[in-house]
Amino acid sequence: MRISIIGSGYVGLVTGIGFVKLGNEVIFVDVDDRKIQMINNAQPPIYEEGLEELMREYKGRYYATRDYKEAILNSEVTFIAVGTPSREDGSMDLTYVKKASEEIGGALKEKGTYHIVVVKSTVLPGTTEEVVKPILEEYSGKKAFEDFGLAMNPEFLREGVALKDFLNPDRIVIGVQDGRTKKVLEELYAPINAPKLFTDIKTAEMIKYASNAFLATKISFANEIGNICKKLGIDSWRVFEGVGLDHRISPHFFKTGIGWGGSCFPKDTKALIRKAEELGEDPIIIKAAVEVNERQPLKLIELLKKHVPELKGKIIGVLGLAFKPDTDDVRETRAYVVVKNLLEEEARVVAYDPQAMENFKRFYPDVGERIEYANSAEDVLKRADVILIVTEWREFEKLDYSGKIVIDGRRIKAAEKTARVYEGVCW
Ligand code: UDX
Repeated sequence: MRISIIGSGYVGLVTGIGFVKLGNEVIFVDVDDRKIQMINNAQPPIYEEGLEELMREYKGRYYATRDYKEAILNSEVTFIAVGTPSREDGSMDLTYVKKASEEIGGALKEKGTYHIVVVKSTVLPGTTEEVVKPILEEYSGKKAFEDFGLAMNPEFLREGVALKDFLNPDRIVIGVQDGRTKKVLEELYAPINAPKLFTDIKTAEMIKYASNAFLATKISFANEIGNICKKLGIDSWRVFEGVGLDHRISPHFFKTGIGWGGSCFPKDTKALIRKAEELGEDPIIIKAAVEVNERQPLKLIELLKKHVPELKGKIIGVLGLAFKPDTDDVRETRAYVVVKNLLEEEARVVAYDPQAMENFKRFYPDVGERIEYANSAEDVLKRADVILIVTEWREFEKLDYSGKIVIDGRRIKAAEKTARVYEGVCW
């Protein structure tokens, strides 16, 4: 099939390259010339395992352009995969979704054959039918579900393993109303062997939010128990090994530590809370999950001060700035909160991350420009006697932490074994 994808961020790019691997042709649309150029040179504008290899292997089967019209007229299905960032108040900013819908609508006006628009961006229940659909109809002068197809297909990709998740997902959820669209999407996803759940459009939208809110709450719950365990001298990792063996619960997403970050959990929990409140509901469980998560990185500072009460002028090594390993993404990373607190105490910070240093500096200039960056993890250990572990990059397992005070937010076994003084956040 010929597919166009609006938005070449993490989701758009991985989804597009995934579809190429399944035998389709893909046109990426983006407003960022740097990204377009990189994609056309088979270079991924983001770091994601396996992406560069696939982009090189399948060069010629995809390309990127600024031109919506060209992309839509030359494809049968269009995925909207633009960002839905948070506004100051936590609500969802639909600017990019609306802009994409206007452009697609305009192009659909000129299209003679049946076209299907699929919303992949994470949007609150009701958005596809109440925001996207009217815009598409207004700009195209055509009727959704009759003259063109419209569906909602949430993504469940984890950064770092996003390609694997695309090709081998736990499930595929498709919110769809008309039979013709359903048939095309069934065909598109036929090569993927996974349970496929067809629902109505707003149910599909809600499945994404409920999944993310549940996972975020699961981790926050584990962290809350973990904080109690810490006080009682119990290893919470052992506890959740035991808890996770119950098949109703499952062992995944039980790693206690300094909490969750990234582009999804923080944004989606906040948007769902706002929406619930708008509807007159008080979603206390999700609110508590967010609050636990905001407090969790402060545990690292608390434990640090137990061993080093005066931080002023001290060199503190920070290992890891990305919100999790195997990505260069720093959105909502716990590292920001940790570094900010260290700087407030007037400590000197020497940080290292294998992929995310540039992004950290660029995204968080208020703290990112006030710290030193090391050339390697070893360099951090050379320069600092006190180390905070923020992201569990595999290479941190290869270090020798002898002689160091290590406060660990993620549980690096090598540090636990070799450090002179070792403290884990929840163990
Ligand atoms: C998440 C969802 O997993 C994915 O389905 C959704 O589509 C987008 O959001 P992602 O943000 O890439 O994916 O990362 P994920 O691996 O889920 O981790 C999120 C955060 O939770 C990270 O900061 C990670 O460090 C933290 N985490 C995860 C824990 O603290 N403990 C765990 O057990 C698992």
